[in-house]
Amino acid sequence: MDYQAVLHQIADDVAPLVGRGTPAAYIPALADVDPSRFGMAVADLDGKVYGVGDWQRPFSAQSITKVFTLALALARGGDSLWEHVGREPSGNPFNSLVQLEYENGIPRNPFINAGALVVTDRLQTLTGDASSELLEFLREETGNPELAFDAVVAESESAHGDRNAALAHFMASYGNIANDVPTLLDHYFWQCAIEMSCADLALAARFLARHGLRADGSRLLTRSEAKQINAVMLTCGTYDAAGDFAYRVGLPGKSGVGGGIVAIVPGHCTLCVWSPGLDARGNSVAGVAALDRFTTLTGLSVF
Ligand code: DON
Repeated sequence: MDYQAVLHQIADDVAPLVGRGTPAAYIPALADVDPSRFGMAVADLDGKVYGVGDWQRPFSAQSITKVFTLALALARGGDSLWEHVGREPSGNPFNSLVQLEYENGIPRNPFINAGALVVTDRLQTLTGDASSELLEFLREETGNPELAFDAVVAESESAHGDRNAALAHFMASYGNIANDVPTLLDHYFWQCAIEMSCADLALAARFLARHGLRADGSRLLTRSEAKQINAVMLTCGTYDAAGDFAYRVGLPGKSGVGGGIVAIVPGHCTLCVWSPGLDARGNSVAGVAALDRFTTLTGLSVF
């Protein structure tokens, strides 16, 4: 497969969509990003990376980090995680509170904010420093020791974090949060504020295309666990647009309000695309279109 040629074709095809949509503004520091950016990278199973456009420019990973904290919490703590969080699509926006009360403080899945807070809480209990554990893991998988938190973004989200605070306190009232809520929120905001490029994210997610094997060949997850995370990404990774994303792209994917989307072709490669303009559900407009083009042009999908 000539990934480089495919990427150039995709960049041409989606150029009219770059700049459409709106960068996230509810975290004020994210609203400053240049909406005309577009980058895309493919990493093969051996870690060779192909890219186009702004593929090496760091951006705010945001909810894409939820994939990595889920993997670490499962790897360190095992299946008991699923007593605290479900794995059904929510059909609601990523930051919705509405299901939590009638479902007794158990979030629908690990990728909506409520579910990600539960996962980070578990990782905090297991490691004592969830956000540092995540950053260290990402540095190892990318081979990029420069990966870092963006303090401006973390502090901006913290200053406007009432909704996530409400979710965490509400779940704590059901006994579904073990750590002190302000500490948990800090780790969650710093986790979301990690800056990574498309190349970094495509490399970091490779264990999901390699059936659980890390960059150094050691095993992070069993083959089944890697399959399970890919399945939850397919059904829940783009929130209330997951059905449409599966229909158009046909791959496990995880979006973030920084405008990035990671997608996995198990046994073949990982992809990451970035363009900051978001649709109404918080997914990158040009990013979804680019992944749609990728699977159409290459015939690579899980179906
Ligand atoms: O908690 C939040 O709202 C953000 N830090 C992350 C949300 C996000 O990226 C949703 N993805 N599309």
